Amino acid sequence: MKDLFDRILANKGPLGKWADQAEGYFVFPKLEGPISNRMKFQGKEVVTWSVNDYLGLANHPEVREIDAQAAAEYGSAYPMGARMMSGHTELHEQLENELATFVDKEAAYLLNFGYQGILSTIDTLVSKNDVIVYDVDAHACIIDGVRLHLGKRFTYKHNDVESLEKNLVRATKVAEKTGGGILVISEGVFGMRGEQGRLKEIAALKGKYNFRFLVDDAHGFGTLGKNGAGAGVAQGIQDEIDVYFATFAKSMASTGAFIAADREIINFLKYNMRSQMFAKSLQMVLVKGALKRLDMLRNRPEIMAKLWENVDALQSGLKERGFDIGSTQSCVTPVYLKGSIPEAMVLVRDLRENFGVFCSIVVYPVIPKGLILLRLIPTASHNLEDVAITLEAFSSIRERLESGVYKRQSEAIQSV
Ligand SMILES: Cc1ncc(COP(=O)(O)O)c(C=O)c1O
Repeated sequence: MKDLFDRILANKGPLGKWADQAEGYFVFPKLEGPISNRMKFQGKEVVTWSVNDYLGLANHPEVREIDAQAAAEYGSAYPMGARMMSGHTELHEQLENELATFVDKEAAYLLNFGYQGILSTIDTLVSKNDVIVYDVDAHACIIDGVRLHLGKRFTYKHNDVESLEKNLVRATKVAEKTGGGILVISEGVFGMRGEQGRLKEIAALKGKYNFRFLVDDAHGFGTLGKNGAGAGVAQGIQDEIDVYFATFAKSMASTGAFIAADREIINFLKYNMRSQMFAKSLQMVLVKGALKRLDMLRNRPEIMAKLWENVDALQSGLKERGFDIGSTQSCVTPVYLKGSIPEAMVLVRDLRENFGVFCSIVVYPVIPKGLILLRLIPTASHNLEDVAITLEAFSSIRERLESGVYKRQSEAIQSV
């Protein structure tokens, strides 16, 4: 018999195996200083494009003041216990009511973390007779929620409504046999490449098939639709979304999340969702902070307007310079370049060290071999100077990539 840790020590996993080369630089980098358009990386100022603080609320003085007041008043413990037992308060309820109104649903329920929250929502919504049909590129939290499902599940091709329909036909056959129902899951905005989920076309299939629709709008909430009410509102089909999910970890610049739906469905989830029944309630400092942030979304439309001014400047500037930014329909700005993983590593170092531009990098196996994806997240705290610096930097690194400079440098490093 083996020791359990033998396998773990022998194989660090698909990402872990790169730890020696990547840790501290490509993964687990330490960005320092206040969260803003300019932060410090390894002691140097960089234009930061890798923080999902879309509305720039993380360091907004009014938000910081409320966070500080709430921390002074309640500390980080209050309330203790799960919502159902001893962790329920008037302010939790107030926030839920305000969120429900904001996203045009009857009721909402707070979740202490987005990841576990949506995972547990999926687990609670379906029983073994039900069938789940979900986008193959769904976020890990959706995939993990589906993993808990004891019944049938089908994936459809990414954002492909024809493929969804084929799978709805299959799912309908299964559900007719088992006597169950169907849950379709999409994201409002796909966070890696920035396309909006084709929510309107998916919802239109409700005329032909019987299913309920769950949307994870982590990147759409706060950035799309009136005042940031999300992708469903932007596409005019919020009513067709049966369960709406958004996290506080992006536009709200905080921690926590919520689901919104008809009151009876929220009541069911409140009494049956294991991640909330058996875990501590969202801390008051986060609840008070979320109330303030939501107030900013409702009453400061100029913040979202500033975000989109930056998004438009960045995306149109990249397109004018001939960069391939895929088919983004959101703030998420991917830039696709052709190159190998070693070239990508040299390129990112150059971008950070010599041009002072910090963004995330994605390579194979997340995207096809031979492609490099640089992912930029514009926020309301950026300005047009940040955009100009970045456009210049991108033009320079592309020139170096195409002329083989990075290839030669990466070969020189490998041969050392
Ligand atoms: C699409 C999507 N869903 C859910 C989550 C999880 O949210 P949280 O960070 O609140 O756990 C994320 C976070 O990255 C996300 O991108």
